[in-house]
Order: sequence, then C-alpha cells, then structure tokens
Amino acid sequence: MPEAASLMDKVVSLCKRRGYVYPASEIYGGLNSCWDYGPLGVELKRRVKEAWWRSMVHDRDDVVGLDSAILQSPLVWKASGHIEGFTDPMVDCRACKHRFRADHVEGSRCPDCGGELTEPRKFNLMFKTFLGAVEDDASVVYLRPETAQGIFVNFLNVLASSRKRPPFGIAQIGKSFRNEITPGNFVFRTREFEQMEMEYFTPPEQATRWFEYWRKERFDWYARLGVRPERLRMRDHRKDELAHYARACTDVEYEFPFGWSELEGIADRGSFDLERHSEASGENLKVFVEETKTHYTPFVIEPAAGVDRAALTFLVDAYDEDVAQGETRVVLRFHPRLAPITVAILPLVKKEGMPEKAREIERELRRRFTTFYDESAAIGRRYRRQDEVGTPYCVTVDGETMKEDTVTLRERDSMAQERIPVRDLVGSVEGRIEGWRRAGARG
Ligand code: GAP
Repeated sequence: MPEAASLMDKVVSLCKRRGYVYPASEIYGGLNSCWDYGPLGVELKRRVKEAWWRSMVHDRDDVVGLDSAILQSPLVWKASGHIEGFTDPMVDCRACKHRFRADHVEGSRCPDCGGELTEPRKFNLMFKTFLGAVEDDASVVYLRPETAQGIFVNFLNVLASSRKRPPFGIAQIGKSFRNEITPGNFVFRTREFEQMEMEYFTPPEQATRWFEYWRKERFDWYARLGVRPERLRMRDHRKDELAHYARACTDVEYEFPFGWSELEGIADRGSFDLERHSEASGENLKVFVEETKTHYTPFVIEPAAGVDRAALTFLVDAYDEDVAQGETRVVLRFHPRLAPITVAILPLVKKEGMPEKAREIERELRRRFTTFYDESAAIGRRYRRQDEVGTPYCVTVDGETMKEDTVTLRERDSMAQERIPVRDLVGSVEGRIEGWRRAGARG
C-alpha cells in the first residue's frame, strides 16, 4: 500500500483520470475547492445515497422522506440561531492580508509572512443572495447551511399527512452550502456539498436510548459497506465543543491519509429546534398524547452525514495496489453494491461472433446490474482497466462460449476465474454480491 501522503495524491489523480472527480471550471483555471463529479463519480454518489436511503427509509417503517427547498424564509435561520451563531472566528494579516480561522493559527503572527494578525472577528458561514429583482436588505435570503431546518419547519405537515407518531424520523438528502474559511483536502471540506440527514423525533424519556441506537447503527453502516473497521472510530464531543443546539454528540471518524477526521455526527438536539421554531412562528409544535391528554415537545436525535465525505471515504478505503504477474495492479476494492459498474462484458476477440454474443449477454445482465461493454485492447489490459475503476466482476466471451454457452466469470479481488453456464450468470453474480466480504475483513 502507498504511504499516506502519496495515497491521497494517487486517489485524486485516479479520480481525474478515470472520471470520478474533476476540478470545477477547469478550462477557466478552476474555482477554489469546487469539484465536479464525472461519469463514474456520479454513479458512486448515487449508490452512496441509495444505500443510505434504503437503510434509513425503505428498510424500516418508522422513517419517512422529505425534499425541502434550499431557499427558506430568513426567519427560519433567525429562529434556528444560524444568523446569530453560525460563525467561525476569523483573523486577517495586516501585512499580506491573508485570512485564517482563529482556531487554526497559534500566536498573533501570520503563518504565511510573520505579519501581525487582527483581533478575531465573527464570520458568518451562510451564503447570501437576493430573492426577486430588487437587491436590497429586504430581499436577502440564504442558501441553506444544513438540510435539517427544512425538516423541523415541516414537522407539523409530516405529522398531519403521514399519521406518524414519535418515535419516528424524517430523512432528507440534498445540497448544503457553507462559505468555509478553510476548505480543502479534496472533496472533504468544500463550500457546496451534499448532506444525508435524518431527524428522529422521540418522547424525551426515550432520547438517550435512541441516541445509543443511532450511534451504533450509523457506525455499522460504514462497516457493512466494506470500510475497514480498524479505520473507523467513534469520538464523543467534550461539553466545550458541542454545537449550540446539542446536548450530546458523537462523531463517526475515519482515518484519512490526512489524519482522523469527522465523517458523520450523531447529535442529541433535545427539544431545542422545535421549541425555537414554535416560539418564533407562534405554531404549536407539540405532540398530543391521547391516553394522558397531555402535550409534549419531542426530543430529536440526528445522524447527519455528508455524501461527498462518504464517497471520499469509500474511494480512499478501497484504493489498493498489488503485484500481479510482475506488474503493479491498482484496484479499487469497493463493495459490489457501491461500484459504479457491477459487471463488465468482454469478448475475447472482435470476431467469430463473439462481440454479438457478448452484446446479447450484456442485454440480459443490464436488466439487473449496471454493465459496461469493452472490446478494445488485449484482455489483460481490459481487466486492469476494470480493476482500476473498481468493477467487481468481468464476464469474458470466448471460443467455448460459442460452442457450449459458458463464459468465464472473473472476480476483481481474487482474480479467480470460473467457467459457468450463461443461464446461471445472473444468479451467480447475485450470489457473489450477497456473499461479498472484504479480503482479510472480520465478520
Ligand atoms: N445538521 C447538523 C449538521 O449539519 P455538521 O456536523 O455540521 O452537522 C454534518 O454536518 C455532516 O455534513 C458532516 O459530518 C460532514 O460529513 C458533512 N459536511 C459538513 N460540512 C461540510 C463541508 N464543508 N464539506 C463537505 N461536507 C461537509
């Protein structure tokens, strides 16, 4: 395996080369810390989101979905505390004018030129824009810095229309925007990113139990999708680092090449948000209990993850190099459910009816899996290309296929090849996906 520092460079370069992630606006020199996802990157992100939605919404009966607007009334951000408190302390260098997060520099001298720094000032991280044709103070709106508030302000709507009662959750996936002072580390911290958040509303006395439940569930989700458990850990926030709304918070952290960093936060937000919105809007956001004829404000447990950070984790964790037949092989050992291409179909040669047969097999497989057809270059080269983008299975059509209706099924991880009848192909691939375990992984 490559050294940590070069691992990150190798992943970034593979992403560009093979169409996972490109620098945004590249033909104009790029835009600082903005990235575009290419043909394979967009597929990876879709699979990450699909896996999250399946486990958080479809596989359970106590969570429903929502897709709220990015632009909300500014009153939402006033009530939530974001206009007042969603700030980072910032310092400027009086000499070179560079700007830093106050908590990222030591002492009062500029890390770039040694100049004197200003006193820390609060810098609000929300992007501002204008609604409508007039650009004045009255038309200022904000791009949402989290998807969570769209959920809180729809609490009554969902309660009334879905007939759910706590404990239940509302899940949402969507873009959020933060004018970060120090973005960086590829797609780890950017100013435009996607979040996967779920607000779980519970009677106050059950909050601790659900907090424990969601901590474990969210940690296990990454491990179930093949992330090496030894590179995952949970870290509880100290009281002095808790966000203004949180009673408790645990981060799921991953050991990135640049160190252990937050992948996802699971917070106990208590009744903070519903109470603030209730006060500010005048709406009663309490739940009525039929048996006791009493009202209460639910507590909220929130698992909040980032799509881009999760995708980066899966990419970095999957990256591997080994030596096969005297050559270094780059391979992305993705869980088959995350791999952008599940099966590649490769005719051994471009003649003797093999391309036609391969196309026919591909049509059949395409009904169940994402496929890729490739007839160019030597077969070994085509296998390497698929290894490098993380395709778990390759099907090769050769002379025997034409005679006996069998194909070779090659596995990315072990490179083992097995001869199987074409009619068994779908079942065989499905069985392998189901039984997939990361080589060397426990459990
Ligand atoms: N609603 C709670 C909330 O937004 P957060 O810890 O600020 O909590 C949740 O964000 C997740 O969103 C983070 O764990 C991270 O995965 C992702 N995220 C936050 N800021 C990000 C950024 N600037 N770039 C990429 N992902 C980010």
